[in-house]
Amino acid sequence: MTALIDSYRTIYSDVAGWFNPLSQAVWSALLTEQARLGLSGDILEIGVKHGKSAGMLACALQEGERLTLVDTVITESARSLFAGKLNITLREMSSLALKHTPDLGTVTFRFIHIDGNHLASFVQNDLEFARDHMAPRAVICVDDFFSYHYPQITFTTLEFLSRHRHEMSIFLAGGNKAYICRHPDYRPYARWLIEDVPETLAQNGIADFNLYKSARAPEISCFGIAPNKGQGVVIKGLDTDKEPKLYY
Ligand SMILES: C[S@@+](CC[C@H](N)C(=O)[O-])C[C@H]1O[C@@H](n2cnc3c(N)ncnc32)[C@H](O)[C@@H]1O
Repeated sequence: MTALIDSYRTIYSDVAGWFNPLSQAVWSALLTEQARLGLSGDILEIGVKHGKSAGMLACALQEGERLTLVDTVITESARSLFAGKLNITLREMSSLALKHTPDLGTVTFRFIHIDGNHLASFVQNDLEFARDHMAPRAVICVDDFFSYHYPQITFTTLEFLSRHRHEMSIFLAGGNKAYICRHPDYRPYARWLIEDVPETLAQNGIADFNLYKSARAPEISCFGIAPNKGQGVVIKGLDTDKEPKLYY
């Protein structure tokens, strides 16, 4: 197991919330990869509740980086987990006001998790704020992507990708989340998915999943990942491939 997921599980595994084991393993691998690449930048989460996913972000902080946690209601549980940590700022506010917050004006983030108000207008606001504040090679992660409960999140995310089609790519969907980067960063993240993720996720305790790339760019850039009930790590390429191959 990697150090990041180890520290997360040690400190935060009992926190209530919505952060499934697959996404925990993907975040741990992705945030570790960003650190390995030498990326730096702050980290932002919109929608914290009790701090279940925020805990992983807190564990991922590197020297000199800050974690900004935004929620309209900072719960007592989140306050007791994070208050007093010098590199973590709790902001009790609506994400709609983030763009008017002067001390965030020039701040850039290497990882942004959008999990606040699930109405389309809020998700659109949060995606546009995130886009305006991306550090080099940043990733925007959107919760409840492809959720039947919140179809507006999928529609809004796809509209965002279409509006910024010359700039933004979705490179992964799975575990209830979408992962978006800028175009030039797509290939490095795609290569990481193919070359690193199967082994790293297995080390992170997720040894049964399918990694999909069922279409070629330019039809769609996105990989998929989903649990597969005890089948091990299975690579799935185009339906017509005799030998599975992940195109990117
Ligand atoms: C699904 S919960 C977040 C779950 C959390 N990320 C976890 O890992 O368990 C959604 C949170 O978004 C917050 N929220 C709702 N509207 C918001 C807004 N406009 N700005 C920021 N946060 C908001 C809610 O108070 C709630 O705590």
